[in-house]
Amino acid sequence: MNTRIGVPEFLDTGFVFDALTAERAVELIGRYPVARSALLPLLHLVQSVEGCVSVAGVQFCAHALKLETAEVAAVASFYTMYKRKPCGEHLVSVCTNTLCAALGGDAIYRTLSEHLGVGQNGTAGEAGTTGSITFESAECLAACDHAPVVTVNYEFYDHQSPDSALDLVQALQRGEKPDPTRGAPLTDFRTASLEIAGIFENLTAEVEGPSATDQTLRGSVLAHDNNWQAPAMAESVELPPVPEKK
Ligand code: FES
Repeated sequence: MNTRIGVPEFLDTGFVFDALTAERAVELIGRYPVARSALLPLLHLVQSVEGCVSVAGVQFCAHALKLETAEVAAVASFYTMYKRKPCGEHLVSVCTNTLCAALGGDAIYRTLSEHLGVGQNGTAGEAGTTGSITFESAECLAACDHAPVVTVNYEFYDHQSPDSALDLVQALQRGEKPDPTRGAPLTDFRTASLEIAGIFENLTAEVEGPSATDQTLRGSVLAHDNNWQAPAMAESVELPPVPEKK
């Protein structure tokens, strides 16, 4: 048990974050009117370095944001996107929520779990090495129009079957990076974490991939064809004052 922050699950790696990470933290904090608003990006930032959020990561965020470590740990332990153990090169997530499950998501999960030899949150291979995979089932991945879906580092592979998902995972294990169905090219879990933090090394590549599909746009096309309109918005809305930066 880690008595320093009172939460047992964070690894005590003793890691020391470098100057580049500190610079990036300052940049991220500067994007918000109140420093503590940068907590979620900062947690992704430390995860991009260590492959998980460790005690050192919690302490780094707390120091940068002038928060208590317990406050940071409470947030980091709430969200499943913050991992307590170092992730593999890739994070493979299988949606097993209602629509995907009904269309084969459960069968995909079983097939991949048997192939990898791990269950929920298990890692096949040595974390961080090429071809290593952390595996999980996920709640709705917001792509029900393409069910059943699998994501790798949060990039979408649509309309999967047990066989196609197995081909995908075997390619990842060979060190390949198959193109996602939509969105940015596949990278790795740590790079994806850095991008989710809000730091992009190649923003052009991130926005070049295919985006909305016919299924995704079906509702707006129907609305257009039938002249359906959303209720009018107010001309102007009074916004609350921006709090003073602390
Ligand atoms: S239920 Fe799987 S993406 Fe929504």
